[in-house]
Formats: sequence, structure tokens, C-alpha cells
Amino acid sequence: MQFEIIMTLRTVEWKNDSVVMIDQTKLPNELVFVQYTDYNDIANAIRTLVVRGAPAIGVSGAFGLALAALHSSSETKEDLLSDLEKAKKTLFETRPTAVNLSWGLEKIMEIARQGKTVFEIKDAVIAKAKQMAEEDININKKMGKNGAELFQDNDTIMTHCNAGALATVGYGTALGVIRAANESGKNIKVIATETRPVQQGSRLTAFELKHDGIDVSLIPDTAVGYTMVNGLVNGVIVGADRILQTGHVFNKIGTYQVATMAKQHNIPFYVAAPLSTFDLESRPEDVIIEQRKASEVTSIGDKKTAPDGIDVINPAFDITPPELISGVITENGVIKSPYEESIKKLF
Ligand code: MRU
Repeated sequence: MQFEIIMTLRTVEWKNDSVVMIDQTKLPNELVFVQYTDYNDIANAIRTLVVRGAPAIGVSGAFGLALAALHSSSETKEDLLSDLEKAKKTLFETRPTAVNLSWGLEKIMEIARQGKTVFEIKDAVIAKAKQMAEEDININKKMGKNGAELFQDNDTIMTHCNAGALATVGYGTALGVIRAANESGKNIKVIATETRPVQQGSRLTAFELKHDGIDVSLIPDTAVGYTMVNGLVNGVIVGADRILQTGHVFNKIGTYQVATMAKQHNIPFYVAAPLSTFDLESRPEDVIIEQRKASEVTSIGDKKTAPDGIDVINPAFDITPPELISGVITENGVIKSPYEESIKKLF
């Protein structure tokens, strides 16, 4: 009954003064939960993709600070804040591209700075992190309702990477829209790209949708053009790690290729993301694109698939420019081009 497991359990949760996560590196073969009481372990979990996906790492960062506060032995507000700053730095340095991480950390620091006593700060920080986790699910559901209207009964929608329940606390952004469309009575089918090199599409999206009873077909990343030119795709929806004021979208490597191919075939390309994914300050060149280890590309599982010593370029994210994007679905509605203006109005 894995379908029920996914619907009732959360990607990341605060339980008995600890943080419980689904270990996503083990999916789809095993559903394993890990429990952490030290913020350094949360940092490690984010770094090693035990938890991944922009909204999920935003909330995990917040829970990391909640653990740091809970276990701090500081007796003054100043010392506690300095412990939290240290933990914030460790958590922040885990992954550079998703803005939700710094958003989550900053939200907690704001609350901590407002507290008067050590006890008050500890309580407030834990309560805020728990509240952020609850809000994440509600925001995804709102986003789902807003986006569901963009798709017709019997549409087949392509998605890339995993922007589902597993990338959030629950329900999902891009996959939340697909869930909401199906819940509204439409029959929406999904084409999921496998998303090399870490396979978030085949390991996570295919797993999540299959066990939710949503019709999903898996394709190799190299079949995006084939499926589009053969009329098998009516629309595309992906998530985002960061959206700039200009409408540039940072998302999993390969998103730019999918968007370009969608434009070539006149297929609408949508992005679903909460307001916490918008970064109104940075320019495209300011954002660090995470570069990951070569072994992700030179092997599949334990099997080596490239010669020893080969040079590798392995960026984890790319940038899709606004002209390729038909609309951005948020909890406050769907925005369209010109993005500079529509994003300003959104905030
Ligand atoms: O490297 P990952 O798995 O953290 O990358 C995740 C993505 O790129 C998702 O598409 C993005 O975070 C949106 S999740 C709702």
C-alpha cells in the first residue's frame, strides 16, 4: 500500500523534538525514514540529497535551525543568536541555487531576533518552523487549484525532475497542479523525463505518480523531442529553484532544453512555484549554479559507464529565459509575460 504511505506521510516532519525525513536516496527501492537531532546531520542530509527539492530544503533548513535552538546551551539571547548564526551558515552552505533555503533560514532568524528570552526564542523558533511546514502544503494546494484550470481533460503533460510531494513537505508544486487537475475530474496523463544524472524523474516522479494512481509514462531525457514532434505532449509543467524579477527560471539541469523544444513545437511551458522561490534582488549572473561530482555522470549506480580520468561538466541547474515561459503558477494566481511587471504586481 505504498500509495497510502505517500499520501499520509510527509517528506520532512518535526516529531518528538527531532526531524524525520524520507531518505530519498533509497527510493524507489526502499521507503526508509531517517531521524535527526543535530542540525549538522540536517546539513548533511541536504548536501547528499536525502532531502531535495527547493521547498523541502527550505523547510528542512528551518527545522535545522529549530534543532540548533533546542540543543543550544546558551544562557543569554546574544549567545543563542550567535549559535543560530553559526548553524545558519552551515545549513546555507549546503546547496547554493535554491533560494528557498536562504528564505527558510532568514524567516527563522527574524523570529529569533524578535524574542526576548532564551526560552521564548527556542519556543518561537520551533513553532515557526512547524508552521512553515504546514503552510507549505496549503500553498501547494492553492497553487494546484490555480494551475489545474490551464489543462484540459485528456491532456498529456510532460514534467522534468521531481516537483512533487517529495520535493515539498507534501502535495507538490508542478505535480500538485497535476494532482489538483485530476482531483477536479480531469483525466490528465503524465510523461516524466528520467532526469539524468541523479534520476529524480524515474526514481521519484514516476514512483510518486504511479502510487498515486496517476497515469505516467517514463521517457529517457533524449526522447523529449521525439514525443513532442509526434504530438504526444499537450503541455509542460516544471518546478523552480529560483525565479528572478526578470522572469528567468533556475531549475533542474535540462529544463532549458525541454522549454526550447516546447517552444519549437508550440507547446505551452508552465512553471509552478511558491512566492518563496522568487528572488527579486539577484541578476542571472549573481546566482551560483551548483556543480556536482563527476561520478554522477561517469557511472550509473555502482557501474562505471565512462573511461577513468575523463573530464566532466556536471551542473545541477540551468536557466530558462522568460521568452520560453507561457506562465508561472503561484499560490496567488498565474502570472504571464511581461514578467518584470507581473512579478512586481504579485508582490
Ligand atoms: O537537485 P534537486 O533534486 O534538489 O532539484 C530539484 C529541482 O530542480 C526541482 O525541480 C525544484 O526544486 C522544484 S521542486 C518543487
